[in-house]
Amino acid sequence: MSSPCSASAPCDSSCHTAARAASRAWRVVLRVALNASGWVTPSDLIWTVSLAAIQHRHGVCGSVGEIGVHHGAFFSVLAATAVGGERLFACDVFEEGQRAGFNVDHSGRGSRSRFFGTLRLALGAGFDPERELALAPYTSLRLHDEEARQTDAWTMPRFRMLSVDGGHIEVVAFSDLRWAAGRLAPGGLVAVDDAFSPAWPGVSRALRDFFHLFDRKHERLRPLLATTKKIYLTTPSHHSKYLHAICELSHGSGHRLLQEYGGGDDLPHPKNSSVWHKVSTVPIDFIGHMLMLTEPPVNGSRLDPVLNTNARGLAKRWEREQPMVGVPKPHESYSVAVSKEMMRFLAGTVSVNAMPPGVMQKTMKVYGRCNPSRRH
Ligand SMILES: C[S@@+](CC[C@H](N)C(=O)[O-])C[C@H]1O[C@@H](n2cnc3c(N)ncnc32)[C@H](O)[C@@H]1O
Repeated sequence: MSSPCSASAPCDSSCHTAARAASRAWRVVLRVALNASGWVTPSDLIWTVSLAAIQHRHGVCGSVGEIGVHHGAFFSVLAATAVGGERLFACDVFEEGQRAGFNVDHSGRGSRSRFFGTLRLALGAGFDPERELALAPYTSLRLHDEEARQTDAWTMPRFRMLSVDGGHIEVVAFSDLRWAAGRLAPGGLVAVDDAFSPAWPGVSRALRDFFHLFDRKHERLRPLLATTKKIYLTTPSHHSKYLHAICELSHGSGHRLLQEYGGGDDLPHPKNSSVWHKVSTVPIDFIGHMLMLTEPPVNGSRLDPVLNTNARGLAKRWEREQPMVGVPKPHESYSVAVSKEMMRFLAGTVSVNAMPPGVMQKTMKVYGRCNPSRRH
């Protein structure tokens, strides 16, 4: 990777420290997160660790946190990416909130003791969650309240990475997205879980509301990367830098990707998941911005018919726009396979009302693959 590590950032994101964090996070992925109860996917774990390393290379620092931690599978990896000077934040209704009826949709069941147990397993028995963690053990809807402004949730440094995976009904997910957008550091990332799940349409609707009602000009957040489960959003200031980095990395194996990002040659090699062997993305035009879409496995069971797009005209835009530097020039026509969930999400996001025919094709303009040798 070409970008230098940052020695002048407000956290210790020197090459050495960032590499140690990437390596630690990778070990937590393999030893803890994949074995803890929860719903994490290898693809999201690889991308989360890599994106954190990309952030550190660009000198982006800040707090790391999650709304909706359940038993800490994803949070343990997020926490492991933190370098010196970065703080941890967790919000969940936990058992008390469950009893009081705040876990409305039962998308998970946060348990404080199991969460702490996972963290000690991941970060070492010496890790003291009560002391080292800013905890908001209540419904995330309260984060907007006036009294919350005096708590760590507001006074700690703005977020480098914040996972939104709490209540999955529209009103809660929308409220969480709004809060996240307001608490993000420049170059921070928000990872929204279940963004394309037919089981949790509230999250897709919340995203649509966010981009159509609250952040119409995308001044706060821009879509950056979408896996089959999560969408990662970032601030406009760093959108093109990250696109470039993702593009450069997206034709190798997940394991090599992490080695390159500082994990080192001695990283344990996982088995039994295609994503460890191949990580690829395709850039698409999405609500007026470039979004990197991870390609589902070619023989995956949930693929919709391939979407054919015509990228003529986009080439001109590519030439005009400096942020496109590092991304291959669009070529004439291109196909991309997307999951049904993704298709539904895209449809929901481009229009609040029913989508006129052809809009999907217009929205899904494709720029071309990152790795020119793989273009058709
Ligand atoms: C899908 S689970 C989270 C999974 C977790 N991120 C993981 O990686 O395993 C959703 C979590 O959100 C919590 N939750 C539900 N409604 C909430 C709310 N309004 N505020 C905060 N947390 C909430 C639940 O207790 C549950 O732990």
